[in-house]
Formats: sequence, C-alpha cells, structure tokens
Amino acid sequence: MSNLPVEQLHALRDEALEALAKADTPDLLETVERTYLGKKGSIRKQMSMLGKLPAEDRPGFGKAVNDVSNVVQEAFDSRRDGILAAIREEALKDPFFDPTLPGKRPGKGSLHPLTLVDWRLDEIFRSMGFYVLDYPEVDTEEYNFEVLNIPADHPARDMQDTFWLEDGRLLRTHTSTGQVRAMRTFEAPFKAIFPGRVFRYESTDASHDHTFHQLEGLYIDRNVSVANLIASMKTLLSEVFGRETKVRLRPGYFPFVEPGFELDIACLVCEGDGCSVCKKSGWLELCPCGLVHPNVIRAGGLDPDEWQGWAFGVGLSRLVMMRYQIDDVRHLLGGDIRFLGQFEGTGLE
Ligand code: DAH
Repeated sequence: MSNLPVEQLHALRDEALEALAKADTPDLLETVERTYLGKKGSIRKQMSMLGKLPAEDRPGFGKAVNDVSNVVQEAFDSRRDGILAAIREEALKDPFFDPTLPGKRPGKGSLHPLTLVDWRLDEIFRSMGFYVLDYPEVDTEEYNFEVLNIPADHPARDMQDTFWLEDGRLLRTHTSTGQVRAMRTFEAPFKAIFPGRVFRYESTDASHDHTFHQLEGLYIDRNVSVANLIASMKTLLSEVFGRETKVRLRPGYFPFVEPGFELDIACLVCEGDGCSVCKKSGWLELCPCGLVHPNVIRAGGLDPDEWQGWAFGVGLSRLVMMRYQIDDVRHLLGGDIRFLGQFEGTGLE
C-alpha cells in the first residue's frame, strides 16, 4: 500500500494533538474537537479516501483512520478532564465558594395540563375511528346559533352570553359550532370530535371563566337511537377513565338535541357509595348529550328520515380539574409558572 494516505493521516493526528494542547478553555476545546472529530471533521473525512484506494488497501486504511480517531478522542477527553479539574480547583480557592450548596438546575419546560388531557383524549378517540377536527374560534351567528336550532329570538341564546365582534361575528360560545360544519364537509356516516377554546361574557369565579375548553363529540349514522347513545358513551368513558364506567341519564334541555340529557358517571372516587367528592350522591355530573335534532341534521344537508346522530359536549377544563384535583378553573389560564410547572409527561404514556 502506498504510504501517502497513512502519512497524511498521521500528520493530521499530530496537528490535532498540537491544537488540543493549545486549547485552554472547554469552549475552545470543543471547537477544536469539532474541527477534527466532528461528523464533517478532517479526520472523519479521511474515510472518504477509502473509495480511491485499491481494494486490498482499504481494510488497513479504514483501521488506521479508526485508530487515529480513538487516540485523538482519548487525548481530547483527558484534556477536557484536566481543564475542568483546574477550573474546579481554582474555584475552591475562593473562600466564599461553598461546594455544599445545591447547584442551579437548568429550567425545564412542561406541557399545560389542558394539553396533556387533550392529547390523551385525541389519541383515544382517534384509535376508535373518530376524526379530530379543529374549527375557528371566531365564528358566525349561523354556526354558533342558527343551524343549531337557536334562532335569533330564542330564549336559549340567553343561556350563553356572547362576545360579539364589531363586524357581526362572535367568539364561539361552545364547540357545538363544529356539528353542522362537519356534516357539510364529511360524507355520512362519520364520527368526529372537536376540542377547543370557547368564550362566554360572564363574571368569573372558582368554577367559571370567560375562556375555557370543551370537547364535542358527534356521530352520524343510520338508525341511531338512545340505546346506541348510552352504549357509546359507556364505551367511550370506560376508555377515557381506563375502567368500567357506570352512567346515568337525566333529562336536559338543549335546542340542538332531542331528546337531550345530562349524563352523570358513578363517582370515580367512591364508585357510587357516596363521598365528599360526589357530595354523598354517588354520581358526578359529566356532560350533556342527546340525539341530534332533525333541524340540525337538515341544516347539515342530510335527510333526518335517513340519518340520525348523537352528540355530547364535555367540559375539557372540568375534566382537567377532576383529573388533577384543581379547585379553581382560573388557574388553568392564569399563566402562573409555579402552577404550570407541576405537570409532567407528554400525556401519551
Ligand atoms: N353546547 C352545549 C353548551 O356548551 C353543550 C352540549 C349540550 C353539547 C348537549 C352537546 C349536546 O353536543 O348534545 O352548553
């Protein structure tokens, strides 16, 4: 084998060792290290010479490059240890330096608890064949009220105090705005959830905020009945809570469903026996739901004699409060980093 490439390699090695001996701070050392040993560093680049060598010389040259890399890497490592040890020694000479004090931890971000629960729910619903859809927060009177069977003079408009914009649009008061949008976009049958922020013009207290999160579910198919709604809600909630969940329905009024219900689940803490969380009733109020009103189906462009559906709207903010035992909804959007830093993980584990 011609000695030329190996000689070049050894010259590079000597150059690297000389440069590292001159680097006397960790930063400088790192720069020099990258120049020689980085992915595009001059020693690694020697590997590209391999192709130009006769076949019988290649294994020997490859080994030589690896040997040189190892030698130089070791030299860098021990030089780094030396520099760090010297820095430490110097610091210890300072009479005010107290090595027993805890160090400063680097700041670590964390995900918002609403994001954690939302991601988990998205994953569960996706695995059951639901679309996860995102609709605008600024919407029209049509999608927020009219197509949901709430005409302008309907008293139900008072149930949801609204922030109106000057151009006549509004900040959506609920995620039900997604129902007719979805029916107009997707071919039936389909199922979808729409998680998102909603807004109400009301004064705030521990359980009310002007901005909060909901998650709406919609299922459109043929022959959907109340029995179907109950079975689906039981399956969905058992998935969400990770165990068999008992539900009960009470009548509830919402103009866009008929019949409409308030759905309760057996208390997750005492499993129905009665405790302080469920105020001794054994039940927790979880979400309103019902069979989609024929007028809403019609507004979605479908024939209510052929297509029916169920819908539910769950307070995502409430779920988060239940999950993490948060006693004031205003913490969620208060932006206090001491509060937000308490939630770890990605929500997907
Ligand atoms: N949109 C209603 C609200 O915010 C909640 C709701 C009730 C959603 C019944 C539904 C439903 O899908 O079927 O007060």
